[in-house]
Amino acid sequence: MIKTERLILRNWQMDDLDSLLKYGNNFNIAKNMRNRFPHPYTIEAGTVFIKLFEKEDPQKVFAIEYQGGAIGAIGIFQQEDVYIKNAELGYWIGEPFWNKGLATEAVKAMINYGFKAFEIERIYAAVFNYNDASKKVIEKTGFTFEAKLHNTIFKNGEFCDELIYSIWKKK
Ligand SMILES: CC(C)(COP(=O)(O)OP(=O)(O)OC[C@H]1O[C@@H](n2cnc3c(N)ncnc32)[C@H](O)[C@@H]1OP(=O)(O)O)[C@@H](O)C(=O)NCCC(=O)NCCS
Repeated sequence: MIKTERLILRNWQMDDLDSLLKYGNNFNIAKNMRNRFPHPYTIEAGTVFIKLFEKEDPQKVFAIEYQGGAIGAIGIFQQEDVYIKNAELGYWIGEPFWNKGLATEAVKAMINYGFKAFEIERIYAAVFNYNDASKKVIEKTGFTFEAKLHNTIFKNGEFCDELIYSIWKKK
């Protein structure tokens, strides 16, 4: 469990299912996520997701708890093979809670956690080019723009550039 000024980052629990569906079942979130983020977000999908991430060691996927309820998720995923020293960061926040600085607060905490919990040197995020809010979050938390990959994303029937941002472990 990680506590920040306003948030608790903790494991998902079956009690969170209603919140997960209430906030996760939103096209405005899904359109910015990989296709493994379900839309519509069904009870079945929510149950599978929570069961997967109820217990992990080390923990990779956290519920973002704000004012007593789970309002989003943040995850850090160490890569494999020659990419073993890298981890990808992903996150979403329920729409009623946007623009309060909550993602920024959660991302800062996860950078700190990620470099301690995993033997990694670099954390990166892959942002769809149209996702200006996420670009803002990633820039505010100290990531550096690395690359624009041309039309690597195919989402909802359209191609889109992918922006790669990274932050390196401080020596
Ligand atoms: C991206 C997301 C996590 C941001 O969450 P949040 O809690 O609102 O983020 P914060 O409040 O910390 O910061 C958002 C920043 O983006 C800015 N912003 C929001 N919408 C914007 C837009 N359409 N254009 C430009 N900037 C925008 C806000 O003003 C704020 O910047 P500021 O602090 O300089 O004012 C949230 O919008 C979300 O869940 N989106 C859908 C899922 C997603 O995109 N996940 C990330 C995939 S890479």
